[in-house]
Amino acid sequence: MKVITTFTQALGLLCSLSLAVQTNSHSRDAACKPHHPFRPLPATQPRARTCHVASHGHGRDDSASILSALKKCNHGGKVVFDAGKTYTIGKALDLTFLKHVDLEIKGTVKFTDDTDYWQENSFKHGFQNATTFFNLGGEDVNVYGDGTLDGNGQVWYDLYAEDALILRPILFGVIGPLKLRYSPQWYHLVANSSNILFEGIDITGYSKSKDEAKNTDGWDLYRSSNVVIQNSVINNGDDCVSFKPNSTEILVQNLLCNGSYGTSVGSLGQYETEVDIVENVLVYNISMFNASASTTATACFARLTMDS
Ligand SMILES: *[C@@H]1O[C@H](CO)[C@@H](O)[C@H](O)[C@H]1NC(C)=O
Ligand SMILES: *[C@@H]1O[C@H](CO)[C@@H](O)[C@H](O)[C@H]1NC(C)=O
Ligand SMILES: *[C@@H]1O[C@H](CO)[C@@H](O)[C@H](O)[C@H]1NC(C)=O
Ligand SMILES: *[C@@H]1O[C@H](CO)[C@@H](O)[C@H](O)[C@H]1NC(C)=O
Ligand SMILES: *[C@@H]1O[C@H](CO)[C@@H](O)[C@H](O)[C@H]1NC(C)=O
Ligand SMILES: *[C@@H]1O[C@H](CO)[C@@H](O)[C@H](O)[C@H]1NC(C)=O
Repeated sequence: MKVITTFTQALGLLCSLSLAVQTNSHSRDAACKPHHPFRPLPATQPRARTCHVASHGHGRDDSASILSALKKCNHGGKVVFDAGKTYTIGKALDLTFLKHVDLEIKGTVKFTDDTDYWQENSFKHGFQNATTFFNLGGEDVNVYGDGTLDGNGQVWYDLYAEDALILRPILFGVIGPLKLRYSPQWYHLVANSSNILFEGIDITGYSKSKDEAKNTDGWDLYRSSNVVIQNSVINNGDDCVSFKPNSTEILVQNLLCNGSYGTSVGSLGQYETEVDIVENVLVYNISMFNASASTTATACFARLTMDS
C-alpha cells in the first residue's frame, strides 16, 4: 500500500535527519486519508540516536536488554529490533516512561507461553478484567517496521485464559506493515489515551486446535479520544474495532475485516454507576468478509457516522 510506504519512509527520514525542519507532508496528520482526524495529530520530533536491542536467542528472556535500550535512546532516539532476530519477552514490561522515541520492529518479538507467570504478573486494568503483557505509554512515541509481535496465543486459547496486548499511549503512532499474531485476547486495548494513529497493521491469529481463539478483538478503545485506525487488515474471531465507554473523536477508515463482528459499539452501560459516552465516531470504507452479527448494548452515543 502506497500510503504506508510513503509514511514509513517519511519517518525514516525524520530519524536520520536530526536537524531537518519538519514539514507537514511528513506529519502523522498528513498520513490520514481520505478523512482527516477530528483534531490534528501532534507532529513528531526528529530522532538523533539509534540503539539496537541485544538478543540472547534460544528463547532466553530479553526484557532487560529491551528496557536498557529504551532507557538509553529515550528522549530523541530510535530503538531497533533487528531483522532476522527473535526477541523473547518473559517479564511484564512497564513502558510508560517513553518520550520522543521510536521503536522500529524489524524482527520478531515473542511473549513466552508461561501462563502461570503471566496470570500472576501481567498488568491488571479493571475494565472487563483486561490484563496485558506490557503497558506502553508516554508522549510522541512511534512504533513501526515490518516485523512481528507474537502473543503465543495458542496456549491461551487452549486454556481459555484472559489476556491481551495493551497500548496505553499518548501522542502515539503505530505504523505498519507491522504484523500482530496470536494475541491471547484483544490485540489492542487503547485506554486513557489521546492522539493516536494506527496505520497498516496486519492482524491474524486463528487457533490451530479445536479451542477457538475467542475475544480476539482487533482494537478496543476505552476512555480515549482522537484516535485514527486505518489501512489495516484484521483476521480474527471477534470485533474488528470496538468502541467501549468514553470513546470520542474516533476515525476508522479503509479496513478489511475477515471473520469478525465488524465494528461495534460494545459493553456500554455494563457498570451500573458509570456514565458511558461514545460520540464523534466516523467509520468509512470497511470491507467485511465472513462477518456475523452480534448484539449491541445501547447507552449514550451521538454523532456516529457509518459510511460505505
Ligand atoms: C485510566 O485512568 C483511570 C483514572 O485515572 C484509572 O483509574 C484507570 O486504572 C486507568 N485505566 C487504565 C486501563 O490504565
Ligand atoms: C471479572 O472477574 C471476576 C472474577 O474474577 C468476575 O466475578 C467478574 O464478573 C469479571 N468481570 C467482568 C466484567 O468480566
Ligand atoms: C477502501 O479501503 C480499501 C482497503 O481496505 C482500499 O483499497 C480502497 O482504495 C478504499 N476505497 C476508498 C473509496 O477509499
Ligand atoms: C478469511 O478467513 C478465513 C478463515 O476463516 C480464511 O480461510 C480466508 O483466507 C480469509 N480471507 C482473507 C481475504 O484473508
Ligand atoms: C465518561 O465520561 C463522563 C463525562 O466526562 C464521566 O462522567 C464518566 O465517568 C466517564 N465514564 C468512564 C467509564 O470513564
Ligand atoms: C470465509 O471463510 C471461509 C472459511 O471459513 C473461507 O473459505 C473463505 O475464503 C472466506 N471468505 C473470504 C471472502 O475470505
